[in-house]
Amino acid sequence: MKIHVLGAAAGGGFPQWNCNCNNCKGVREGSLRARRRTQSSIGVSAGDGRWTLVNASPDILQQFQNFAGSWPQGGLRGCGFESIVLVDAQIDHTTGLYMLREKGSPWPVWCTAPVHEDLTRGNPILHLLDHYCGVRHQPVSLAGECFHPEGAEALNWYPLPLVSAAPPYSPHRNNPVPGDNIGLEIEDPASGKRVFYAPGLAEIDEAVWAAMNRADCVMVDGTFWTDDEMIRLGLSKKRARDIGHLAQSGPGGMIEQLSRLPAHIRRVLIHINNTNPILNEDSPERAVLDAAGIEVAHDGMEIEL
Ligand code: MLT
Ligand code: MN
Ligand code: ZN
Repeated sequence: MKIHVLGAAAGGGFPQWNCNCNNCKGVREGSLRARRRTQSSIGVSAGDGRWTLVNASPDILQQFQNFAGSWPQGGLRGCGFESIVLVDAQIDHTTGLYMLREKGSPWPVWCTAPVHEDLTRGNPILHLLDHYCGVRHQPVSLAGECFHPEGAEALNWYPLPLVSAAPPYSPHRNNPVPGDNIGLEIEDPASGKRVFYAPGLAEIDEAVWAAMNRADCVMVDGTFWTDDEMIRLGLSKKRARDIGHLAQSGPGGMIEQLSRLPAHIRRVLIHINNTNPILNEDSPERAVLDAAGIEVAHDGMEIEL
C-alpha cells in the first residue's frame, strides 16, 4: 500500500492568505525554517499506479499538478485517481470537488449518510455537480463492514465513527451524530499492513485506540499544539476540542497518547494548522516531537506499507 500526502495543512493552508502570525509571516518572509503546506488531502493506492483520493481540498489542482500519479496516462483525458472518499463534509475536505468537474463521467464519492446530507443540503455541492460531471454517491456504512473504493479496491477500507465536529454550516454542528466524521483503517491484505488515518480527531475512544494499536502507521490530527492556541492568539473564542481537534501538548494530549502505542508503530501528525509551532523546524515544540519519535507530515510525503 502506498500513501501520498497531497496536502498536510489544516483549513487555510500554510501560510494562510490573511494570517500574520509568527509562522505565516516567517514562512512568507523566508525567516523561518518551515515548509509551505497545502490543505488536507491524501492519495491511497494498492501500489499498481491507480489511486483513491481521500478528501478533495481547495488546493487540489496544485496538488495534482505536483503529483505525477494523478496525471492522465494515454487517451485524451484521464486521471490516476478513480474515486473520492470523504472523512467529513468540512470545506477544506470537499471544496476541491468543484475543481474536478471536468471529468467525463460521474465521480464515485464514498461518504457516510450525515456527510451526504450536509453535502446535499447545508452545502449542496453534490447537487451542483450534477450540472457538470455528476457524482455517484457510494454509501459508507458504520455497521462495521469494509468498503472498496475504485482505484484501491484491493485494499480493505474500514470506517470508524469519530468524536470530532461537523462543519459550522451543518444543521448538526452542535448536535453531533455518528458519521459526521470518520477515521479510516486501511488494510493491505497482500502485506497484512494497516494505516489508521484521522485528520480530525477530538477524542481517542476505545474503538479508535484499538484501531491505532492494530496499525503499522497512524496518521492523526496534528491541528493544534495547545487546546487554547486560537484563543491565546486572539483569533477565536473556541478551544481546539470545541471544533473537533485533540491538541498535542498537555495531559491526555496527542503526544501522551501516541507515546503509549507499541514502539513499532510509525506516528505521523497531519492536518497541521498554520498557528501550530511544530511547523517551525527549529522550535522547541518540534524538538519535543522529534524526541518522542513523532513525524510531521508534509506535502509530497510518501509512506509505503
Ligand atoms: C476543521 O478541521 O476544523 C475545519 O476544516 C476548519 C475549517 O473550516 O477550516
Ligand atoms: Mn479541517
Ligand atoms: Zn498563521
